[in-house]
Amino acid sequence: MAFPHTRLRRLRTSPAMRRLVRSTQVTPDDLVYPLFACPGRDVREPIASMTGCYHFSPDRIAAEAAEAASLGIPAVLLFGLPQAKDATGSEAWADDNAVCQAVRAIKQTVPDLVVITDVCLCAYTDHGHCGVVRDGRIDNDATLEPLARTAVAHARAGADLVAPSDMMDGRVAAIRRALDDEGLIEVGILSYAAKYASAFYGPFREAAHSAPGFGDRKTYQMDLAADHQALREIELDIAEGADIVMVKPALAYLDILCRARERFDVPLAAYNVSGEYMMLHAAAEAGLVDLEACALEVLTAIKRAGADIIITYFAKDVARRLHP
Ligand code: PBG
Repeated sequence: MAFPHTRLRRLRTSPAMRRLVRSTQVTPDDLVYPLFACPGRDVREPIASMTGCYHFSPDRIAAEAAEAASLGIPAVLLFGLPQAKDATGSEAWADDNAVCQAVRAIKQTVPDLVVITDVCLCAYTDHGHCGVVRDGRIDNDATLEPLARTAVAHARAGADLVAPSDMMDGRVAAIRRALDDEGLIEVGILSYAAKYASAFYGPFREAAHSAPGFGDRKTYQMDLAADHQALREIELDIAEGADIVMVKPALAYLDILCRARERFDVPLAAYNVSGEYMMLHAAAEAGLVDLEACALEVLTAIKRAGADIIITYFAKDVARRLHP
């Protein structure tokens, strides 16, 4: 029953026909908008490495979150910058740090917006690693307690979901236990479960001042080509109590997303990371591609691969385009 009997172009004849047969549609409901909270007052400073992104002080961040909410975006993901870094990253769990203040401000202004916080030490440690350093190595087990304390501080400030991005083994269980011990039973965990040691985080590390001071993250983030580990990482995080699991980055890892989708019945998030974002900006800036069309194409591909939730710096732009 091939050509001429079958003509696949019949279903592409008009915009309405194409809409009718379309099965993947990105909507603002799928999107999470990342925001950077910095100490201080009245700060809204453009981030040089990330076009259209800003460092916001807690008093200015709620307005940005409210704008995202007004565009139909259901959630923001907060990253924090500290006043001062130290060897243990102690400002990460200070209950009055920029992130905790930002959570409170956002919850006061837009209580219905889901607030997710990134839980990691890398922006807070003077060595820039995601965990506790002992004898030049990243000590997995010694990192669990500070991470759990950080998650509890965020949850007490009002976070709905905490999102550990450090890639230590056992951190989801440690965080779940600490939250439950504090009676924070309704606070969920979105775990960066399959997070790769990717070169696509470059622009973000400049934004978060979180580049490692020595070595790299390859002893904790996954090796690019270790594809069987991704499913085990996800499986273990679900077993430890993750409510939502993430694959990161998204674009170069759509195969992993697709396999995770087939295997697990939990909400699946994908992080369209800073390098993927800036790659399109740079190409558009050079006059090579249409930025908005490419952004929507990329996000559609991520959703088609299996993501229920897409974390993207394009969130506001795309939401605006979908619902002008
Ligand atoms: C912190 C963290 C990183 C990103 C999110 N959380 C950087 C890293 O792991 O080095 C990257 C986000 C992006 O590139 O957009 N651990």
